[in-house]
Amino acid sequence: MSAQLRPIRWTQGTLYLLEQRLLPFEEVWVKCDTVEKVARAIEDMTVRGAPAIGITAAYGVAVAAVHSKAKNPASFKKEMETTIVRLRKTRPTAVNLFWALDRMQSKLDELNGTRLADQARLLEKEAVQVHKEDEALCEKLGKYGAQLLSGSRNILTHCNTGALATGGDGTALAAITTAAKRNPKLHVWVDETRPYLQGARLTAYEVAHAGIPFHLITDNMSASVMKQGKVDAIIVGADRIVSNGDTANKIGTYALAVLAKAHGIPFYVSAPTTTLDLTKKTGKEIVIEQRNPREVTHPQGYPIAKEDYPVYNPAFDVTPGKLITAIVLETGICRPPYIRSLKAALAKSKTAL
Ligand code: MRU
Repeated sequence: MSAQLRPIRWTQGTLYLLEQRLLPFEEVWVKCDTVEKVARAIEDMTVRGAPAIGITAAYGVAVAAVHSKAKNPASFKKEMETTIVRLRKTRPTAVNLFWALDRMQSKLDELNGTRLADQARLLEKEAVQVHKEDEALCEKLGKYGAQLLSGSRNILTHCNTGALATGGDGTALAAITTAAKRNPKLHVWVDETRPYLQGARLTAYEVAHAGIPFHLITDNMSASVMKQGKVDAIIVGADRIVSNGDTANKIGTYALAVLAKAHGIPFYVSAPTTTLDLTKKTGKEIVIEQRNPREVTHPQGYPIAKEDYPVYNPAFDVTPGKLITAIVLETGICRPPYIRSLKAALAKSKTAL
């Protein structure tokens, strides 16, 4: 099932998103036929995961273009730019969002002089292309990631990095599912991923459907399973990777990297080059999204603490590049020093276009 699981659908000018907040219990599709609906779907996490957010934002521009009532190219351009500004404000950390919107802006700039009647069609085509390209990137990430995991039997992962988070079969999870095809004994430790429970709700669902043996654990159990020698490798995704390899990913990732170091376990990150932000030198420059306190006091709407308690709820943390054994990109496997290997990988990805 995993190979066919696709949370983003584009049909006749309308975007449909699988409502991830209801998984794994209900499969409901949300129709997004206005820019505001697309923006809210990103903000409220109907769709989530760095590559999926980027793809959805690109379709947000396509929604605006297809439904535009603009009478001339100048007002069409203005409308598209207003759309891009709105979508840029949805979530700050995953750079894929900004990458996708910059790409839509470049396409829009290229359309200068094109007949108004053709402009919407060309923006729609670009968004579909962003989506298709991500599917192809995932396949490569699966292949390279599986090479790193080839000697590992017990793999721990955090958050959700599978089909639900991307346009294809995933990043870190694609490495696991690809490795599992070659190694039927492979077993996955799925971190619950408090407070939003992407591991418990989404990764367990994907791994179960792929037929891979797994155990769901709460985040505070990972140290214990590592100490018992029951983890051979850890692989996670990323929301933003900067020049020195510092990586923003789901809150809790940094703790895992520290634990991996303490137990001599390799710690891998897998992401497409659309997650690289080499304009930043270190992780200190990354903006970390702060989310609603209710996600902590009322997980899944269920009250576990008083609503008026003071809460700190950063959605992501930054893992120092020096704790990362290797970074898997669609161009291949990068090793330290990342300051050099990431730059070379980005250049390679551009020449591959
Ligand atoms: O808040 P989310 O669910 O969007 O966070 C998702 C993650 O942190 C993922 O690990 C990351 O985006 C990589 S998804 C391939």
